[in-house]
Amino acid sequence: MKLVKLFSFIAPVAFFAGCQPATEDNAWLKHALDTSVSQLRLTAEEIDASGLMPRSIHKGHDVSFLERQLEMDRSLFQDSLRAQPVPEAVGTRRLCKIYDWTSGFFPGSLWYAYELTGNEEMKAQAINFTEKLNPVRHYDGTHDLGFMINCSYGNALRLSPADTIPAVLIETADNLISRFNPEIGAIRSWDFGPWNFPVIIDNMMNLDLLFEATRLTGDPKYQAVALRHADKTMPNHFRPDYTSWHVVSYNNDGTVELKQTFQGKNDDSAWARGQAWGVYGYTSCYRVSKDPKYLDFARHIADMIMSRVQTEDAIPYWDYDAPVTDETPRDASAAAVTASALFELSTMVEDGQRYFDYAEKIIKSLSSPAYLAKPGENAGFILLHSTGSLHHGSEIDVPLNYADYYYLEALQRYMKLKGLSYAEL
Ligand code: GLY
Repeated sequence: MKLVKLFSFIAPVAFFAGCQPATEDNAWLKHALDTSVSQLRLTAEEIDASGLMPRSIHKGHDVSFLERQLEMDRSLFQDSLRAQPVPEAVGTRRLCKIYDWTSGFFPGSLWYAYELTGNEEMKAQAINFTEKLNPVRHYDGTHDLGFMINCSYGNALRLSPADTIPAVLIETADNLISRFNPEIGAIRSWDFGPWNFPVIIDNMMNLDLLFEATRLTGDPKYQAVALRHADKTMPNHFRPDYTSWHVVSYNNDGTVELKQTFQGKNDDSAWARGQAWGVYGYTSCYRVSKDPKYLDFARHIADMIMSRVQTEDAIPYWDYDAPVTDETPRDASAAAVTASALFELSTMVEDGQRYFDYAEKIIKSLSSPAYLAKPGENAGFILLHSTGSLHHGSEIDVPLNYADYYYLEALQRYMKLKGLSYAEL
């Protein structure tokens, strides 16, 4: 598995094009790609003039439902974080500014749709929406710069190189490493809240931008910061069973101030998307460093996810420790991130087939009518049934731009590994 899969990343289409069994039915994949293109086209056309990016759909929340899912009395809620949308907004597309942490996902989805189908309209819109993010290169107010700029400009550089793109990535990486504290050994995630130096597990996802900056400049400092962050996160964010805390705050001497959740059910629960961010992040660390400790760690997290997610379609509930009832929401975004990570992980180990099979099961579930939008519906988003922050009554059982992005990335990795091209589906 390992050699074949490694090779397939280098020359996938040429090598595997003739290997597909003639009987294999990829109609589901063709439908998923066509639906994605039509949803992205609709969204791009409808929001272009706004200067904003699509994020989700406005939805209100029922406080009794939150109490049941969080197993917490409403008197303990921080109500200031639980604003309801104005009634007129409910059901409409939720847009966000370019400084929102999710701003890079829509341009990135357009890039993947172009790569997957060769559709030139997707490329033109990808360039259009990527360019809107240019001012973010001057921003240093969050750790999410990797999400914002690597998913947009990083894919632009890969698929349509231009001389102007590396500078955007490098300037943004400089801003990201300015948030690194060498005494603590980590990149600061947030500039808000009560914590001394908060680091969230999500931060593992921003390291790819730093790996890319080292590749572009030849300067090892970006990668060194990223791997120090990963090394600090490993012993402090993870429990003996390889689940992770969401937020770890450090004292100035690098000792732990406290471990909490922000978006999960409770401090010691396993918030579904956090587990996905972790396996993705350590798989990336192994890709660039080839240090087996990261591979070993990614495998442990993957194995934990595969044993803890017991739903029949492999799409997790929003938190592994949430009470499971008919009303418990899923998180398709966590599933999409996991699938993308596990496709890559499957290429790195001898027994990778089991990771591949699990990831394939996820993307087939997400491509089924239960999760894939009908063209023209779902406010132009591709997937249904993600959960942003149930803890805050925010974005519960809705589409999310990052679910769409990692779904398309997972489809891209799947098609490469299978040697599939859109024209042959
Ligand atoms: N990075 C924030 C989230 O995963 O919701």
